[in-house]
Amino acid sequence: MLLNLKCVLFLAVTYFGLSNTKIINEVKQSIRKFPDGFSFGAATASYQIEGAWNADGKTETIWDHLTHNNPCSVKDCSNGDIAANSYNLFKRDVEMIRELGLDHYRFSLSWTRILPTGFPDKINEAGVQYYNNLINEMIKYNIKPMVTLYHWELPQKLQEMGGWANPHVTDWFADYARVVFEQFGDRVKYWITINEPYQICNAGYGSTTKAPQLNLKGIADYMCAKNLLVAHAKTYHIYNNEFKPKYGGVVGMSMSAQWYEPESEEQVEAANEAMHFGIGQYAHPIFAKEGDFPQIMKEKVSAKSAAQGYYRSRLVEFTEEEVNMIRGSSDFIGLNHYTTYLSYRSNVTLEEKQDSDVTSYQPNSWPGSASEWLKQIPWGLHKLLTYVKHNYDNPMVIITENGFSTLSGLEDDDRISFYREYLNAMLDAIEEGCNVAGYTAWSLMDNFEWLEGYTVRFGLYEVDFTTANRTRTPRKSAFVYKEIVRSRALDPIYEPNTKVMTIDEGH
Ligand code: NOJ
Repeated sequence: MLLNLKCVLFLAVTYFGLSNTKIINEVKQSIRKFPDGFSFGAATASYQIEGAWNADGKTETIWDHLTHNNPCSVKDCSNGDIAANSYNLFKRDVEMIRELGLDHYRFSLSWTRILPTGFPDKINEAGVQYYNNLINEMIKYNIKPMVTLYHWELPQKLQEMGGWANPHVTDWFADYARVVFEQFGDRVKYWITINEPYQICNAGYGSTTKAPQLNLKGIADYMCAKNLLVAHAKTYHIYNNEFKPKYGGVVGMSMSAQWYEPESEEQVEAANEAMHFGIGQYAHPIFAKEGDFPQIMKEKVSAKSAAQGYYRSRLVEFTEEEVNMIRGSSDFIGLNHYTTYLSYRSNVTLEEKQDSDVTSYQPNSWPGSASEWLKQIPWGLHKLLTYVKHNYDNPMVIITENGFSTLSGLEDDDRISFYREYLNAMLDAIEEGCNVAGYTAWSLMDNFEWLEGYTVRFGLYEVDFTTANRTRTPRKSAFVYKEIVRSRALDPIYEPNTKVMTIDEGH
């Protein structure tokens, strides 16, 4: 394991008298290379970095609404009104991407910055201009834009009409997508329709941990899941039929993709069920040969709904036409992977409002981060990629997020070890034939971490949120990531000189 290489080196030199140079040479020979053409990037999302929440015609989204009306449901009672001020500092952001030497940058668009009414009747020129400026600045330096259409910011007015629980949202979203493809399709070749449907539906509609905090578990979350998949598929087909022939880009979705490991050999089925209710809920309809929600989900929700006295399953079914429209509606699978859970079979009562009969948890002994839910288990990524290969016919994978949280501070050795270990696990999977084409670090810079506010930091660059110009400073991990990207290799003992960050030639 990479983590232990430095210790081994230390022990070898100290106790076994081996020559330092000899061992360093041996370690250097074992340095693993990334495949040719592999794309390295970093990611952000509009609400988390842009600020300018009501500038130049932008209207209210569900996150503006939540943070303004219920401010202290965010840990530090903060909001994204200014955030990292990327609306004004995008040139510095692109400069950071150049400093890191990245191949791609994943960012998202704010729906109401482009369409203030939520609908295409009024296109906001200033909003379009902002994204044109950002995209053009990237193109100028050969950085591929990877654009997410929806990273959780529904127009508040659409929410008032039911949001993702209203079946009409599928057309509202498809119309917005068409405008976006028309405006930016000539320069953007990587599209992500929706970021983390699980968080949108299960957290936003099934609980209170994301906007719009509906808390209607087992009802609204399933309506949301169905509509969101239909919206995604409509968008995919619009691009495929009308834009792909002239622009040739690719379209996918970014799934929240944690790994569920059986607690023991007897718990394989339970962990598998957890996977079906997790990533499977969204990936199975698109990537499995038979399409539709996973069979186990359909059976469990239907049986529990009947036992609870409902006249029909709470899991809203797809029509055959919808199953066919959704199946195959992605050119790649985007995986947002952070962590792993252990799962075991449990007797869930009907009152508990949980449709899977599985409990999942993280042992306290697992190495943690600044976020309660984020434990560092790199082998989980290897298992996840293997699962995706076997269950979904080895699709092209782009890791659209992977990262680690710390408190503020520039010396982030824990983050460095996280990145090295997870990239190493990814290389194991690639060597075994998983079709991984790209890796995207979350995040380029510190940002508004949803209900955690600014209390935890994911950035390769630290942002000083106390200064008006939101100064960005590279962390040690930025220097290490830069070297990985430059050398296209994973050197486990590289120690950067963190004094000056420069832009290398060609960037
Ligand atoms: C997933 C989300 O897409 C992103 O917005 C969030 O900040 C990171 N995970 C870290 O929690």
